Amino acid sequence: MTEEQRPVQWLENERVLEGQVSSYERQMFPEGITKTARDFHQQIPGYKMSPLKNLPRLASRLGLGGIWVKDESNRLRLGSFKVLGGSFAIYQAIRERLGMMDRELTYEELTSPEIRAKLGDIVFAAATDGNHGRGVAWSATQLGFRSIIYVHKLTSAARIEAIQKNGAKVVVIDGTYDDAVHQVNVDAKCNGWQVIADTAWEGYEDIPRWVIQGYSTMLAETQEQLAAQGLIRPTHLFVQAGVGSLAAATIGYYTNLFGSERPTTVVVEPDRAACLYHSAEVGDGAPHNFEGNLDTIMAGLACGDPNPIAWDLLKETTDYFVKSPDYVAAKGMRVYGVPLAGDPFIVSGESGAVTLGVLMFIMQLPELVPLREKLGLGPDSQVLLVNSEGNTDPDDFRRVVWEGGSSVPKQYRHFHSGLGPAPQI
Ligand SMILES: Cc1ncc(COP(=O)(O)O)c(C=O)c1O
Repeated sequence: MTEEQRPVQWLENERVLEGQVSSYERQMFPEGITKTARDFHQQIPGYKMSPLKNLPRLASRLGLGGIWVKDESNRLRLGSFKVLGGSFAIYQAIRERLGMMDRELTYEELTSPEIRAKLGDIVFAAATDGNHGRGVAWSATQLGFRSIIYVHKLTSAARIEAIQKNGAKVVVIDGTYDDAVHQVNVDAKCNGWQVIADTAWEGYEDIPRWVIQGYSTMLAETQEQLAAQGLIRPTHLFVQAGVGSLAAATIGYYTNLFGSERPTTVVVEPDRAACLYHSAEVGDGAPHNFEGNLDTIMAGLACGDPNPIAWDLLKETTDYFVKSPDYVAAKGMRVYGVPLAGDPFIVSGESGAVTLGVLMFIMQLPELVPLREKLGLGPDSQVLLVNSEGNTDPDDFRRVVWEGGSSVPKQYRHFHSGLGPAPQI
């Protein structure tokens, strides 16, 4: 068995700030920003809170107090949380163009002929591995603007079609997600397009910061939903990462709200695209590129370059970095789809399900007892996961869920058949 095939490789973050506030988190979440994002999202036609689902049977089988899943599989019928970031960044970019950063705009104003006349014809552009582009295309179309979305050559036909259906022109780049990010920026400069990127680079930080802030609507909803269940906060948070914007939003939000009382945090990446894990491993505080062809079924997480503004926050607020192979995500998809009797069923795509797979291996695999103990996972733990996407790539979804694709290697199956956690060894 090679290193690469182990279900969970983990790294304790030596740079995490204990009991201090990260200045990066203050910068990311200035006072009132979550309210501004939510005020905007709540006006979008069709907006609804996404459900927070509780898996009590699985939690008790694993020896945990609770597993809470923020289920983004049907957010605005677009299949993932991503639209929250793209739409808010477009909103902020429009306010900035209008010189109206000092007041919020209503959706009615945004779509009014007067404002449209002032703005002229803007083309919104983005690079994507699928979900971000879909959200940007949808948001631009809703507001009456055109959009152009760059994808890389491994993007599935279904993902491309979903973007086109939402009104965008799609350009396929012969390279990776990171190459698409680079190319859209070059072409946007020549054509005068407005880039809405979910990652930052030197001189381009406001828009990706707005994207991250936009995701906080999801977390404000989660806190409301947890409070309704009598829970002040989760004790643990597992969040998946591509460039790290979702993780920065989630961990940043909780750090902002609870300071040193925040949940214990774990960032999870595919082992073939583990740019944050790799950056933590290098250990010099800087973000580092992860080399390779990023060949993973977790398409939304297949990123080689960390978002530097997300990395800055994560390097000071993440407790553990984890990387896992595809079969861990596939296991998560199947468990969500066929839950224990009494637990709700959840449609979860490759990038959405990996954190559940990781949690299960940590709770059940004897070789991961040291990590379980370090994390303090047990009967008092209330674990929050984000199901960040539903069935966004139907062919691959069926390959995994119907055909048993990306199956768990033999030595990691049936390692424990009884109820409760694996015996301590
Ligand atoms: C479904 C899904 N989950 C998680 C992520 C990770 O987000 P980020 O790239 O901000 O780390 C993505 C990114 O596209 C995604 O599509």
